[in-house]
Formats: sequence, structure tokens, C-alpha cells
Amino acid sequence: MKATAHTNIALIKYWGKKNTELNLPTTSSLSLTLDKFYTTTSVEPANHDRFILNDQVVDATRVHRFLDILRQQLGDFTPLQVISENHVPTSAGLASSASAFAALTGAVTHELGMDLPKEELSRLARRGSGSASRSFFGNFAMWHKGIDDASSFAESLNAPELPIALVVAEVCDAPKKITSTEGMKRAITSPNYDRWLSKSANQFIDMQHAILDQDIDKIGALAEDNALGMHALNLTATRSPFTYFTDKTQLILSLIQDMRHQGILAYATIDAGPNVKIITTTQEAPKIVTILNHAIPSLKLEIAQSGPGISYD
Ligand code: ADP
Ligand code: DP6
Repeated sequence: MKATAHTNIALIKYWGKKNTELNLPTTSSLSLTLDKFYTTTSVEPANHDRFILNDQVVDATRVHRFLDILRQQLGDFTPLQVISENHVPTSAGLASSASAFAALTGAVTHELGMDLPKEELSRLARRGSGSASRSFFGNFAMWHKGIDDASSFAESLNAPELPIALVVAEVCDAPKKITSTEGMKRAITSPNYDRWLSKSANQFIDMQHAILDQDIDKIGALAEDNALGMHALNLTATRSPFTYFTDKTQLILSLIQDMRHQGILAYATIDAGPNVKIITTTQEAPKIVTILNHAIPSLKLEIAQSGPGISYD
């Protein structure tokens, strides 16, 4: 059984765990699923659990652990061979774990003949990687932080498709040195963490309104503020402060400010890596690509738009 799930980029971020075993987050988060980046995963019965990623046998610890969680939750099943293709750089802060664990959850449940509602799939996938809970849904999705396993799930925002675009500026596709899981452990030690949490709760509500009002400028401004706040936590962590930013990340951020001064709608969001996603309109996106290409000719740039939910074949 084969499933395809697209990556999602959080406009309001998940950056901290309240319960590591159940993977319950400290914040509710809200994302846009992207058309350009996705994972396709197929599973079939085998003699023992096996994981092949992009035609290579790779470290399967995380996948094995997740399959065992699925066995606890769904009832025991025979060993599986998992074959996956990432059409997104792995571990580079472009959300490969989101599309990966959503596709894996979909492929396994379908292999077992189960047709579960997406909200239920999102609860399961959350245990593999939190951001995966949002990747079952097309367009905008929100993950309610909840208070326990049952109440921490994602759902569609049921918003109209907007002429929103994300210009993905790939500064580096090498795997990051500090995983999201480790980065969060450090960030929650920042003295500013509680302030970020309460701001994020308001931004989660404001973002829903901005999307339903189709106000892309507001969406961008809120997302940028939320993301820069998240990265400030990393810098101010009491335990092992760090940053995912490189010189090129900083340069792109200042170019985005210049563009805004020129009247171009452009806002940044950044995840656990140096790559920058520029929130803009489908109309302005080509202009932004031209400016960035001119300023940093080596930069890999792609324009992504709203993408679909999980599919099976
Ligand atoms: P990213 O920024 O790409 O989301 P993470 O460090 O959060 O990076 O997650 C990357 C991890 O997710 C990998 O180390 C691997 O364990 C897992 N992963 C990535 N792609 C797949 C896949 N297609 N199937 C299963 N697990 C995957
Ligand atoms: C910055 O979902 O990769 O992209 O649950 O530990 O696997 P784990 O973390 P992960 O973290 C994503 C963090 C983020 C923000 C977001 O996607 O909400």
C-alpha cells in the first residue's frame, strides 16, 4: 500500500513539548501544506521491519520505534518493509519528518485495511513527529495542542484557497546538526519561553481570522513575528544556546526588509534549519525570485503554493 503526503510549513510554530512520550506540544500550531514538497511511502509484509529511504538502507531507529507505537495503538501486525522517497531535502528544516510520518501512518493503516478519519490519523502520526499531524490536510491545517492523547490532534481550517505563495530559499540542503527535538529541549529553557507561549496563543487565534479574512499581508506579518520569536528562544536558551541561522539566512532576512520598504509583500518564516520561506502572493513571488537571484546567484529558489492532503494508490 502506497501513500503520498505533502510537507507543511507552520505559520504559527510548534516549538516545545509538554509530554515527550505522547508528543504533546506546548502550543497549538497552524500550517500551510505545500504543493512542491512531498513524501511517498509504501509498505509490504516482510520477515522483519526494514526501512529504505531514497533507495538506501538508512538508520531505521525512529521508524522502528514508530511502528511499535502503531502496534500498541492499532493491535499487533506483522513486520513490514517500508520504502520511502522524499521529494524534499531530509533533515534540512524543510519538514521532511512531517510528510514522512504522515505518509507512513497512511500507508500502514491502509495496509491493515483501516480507513480512519484524518483527525485520528493525525493523533497517531503525532507520535512519530509532531508536525506530521498537520500533513493529512490540504491547504491550511491546525493542530490543537490538547491536554492528552485524545485531545491533541489536527484538523482542516476549512479555509478557501488563497493566492498565497511561499518562495523557498534553500540556503543549504545538508542535514542539520541540532534536530528539532533537541532544539526544542534547549529552547524551553529560555527565560522568554512563557512570554512566547502566551503571545503564540493569541497569534494562533489572530492567524485564523487573517486567513478567513484572506488578508495575506496580516498572515505574513503574524507568521514572521511568531517565527522570529521562536528563533530568539534558541539564542537565549539557558542550556546550550544556539542558532540555525547562517550568514545567508541573515542576508535574506535583510533583503526581505528592503523588499517591504519597496512595497513588495514579503515576510519570512524559518524552521529548524537555515532555509528561509518567504510568504507572499502568487503575483509577487516571481519578482521576489528575481531580486534574490540577483543578490545571491547561488541560491536555490522554488515557488510553492497551497498543496493537497494525503492520497493513496
Ligand atoms: P526535517 O527538518 O527535515 O523535518 P527532522 O530532523 O525533524 O528534519 O526529521 C528528519 C528525520 O525524519 C530523519 O532523520 C528520519 O528519522 C525521519 N525521516 C525523514 N524522512 C523520512 C521518511 N521518508 N520516512 C520515515 N522517516 C523519515
Ligand atoms: C520548527 O515536528 O520535526 O518545524 O515532533 O520532535 O519530530 P518532533 O519535531 P518536528 O518539529 C517541527 C518544528 C518546526 C515548527 C513546526 O513545524 O510547527
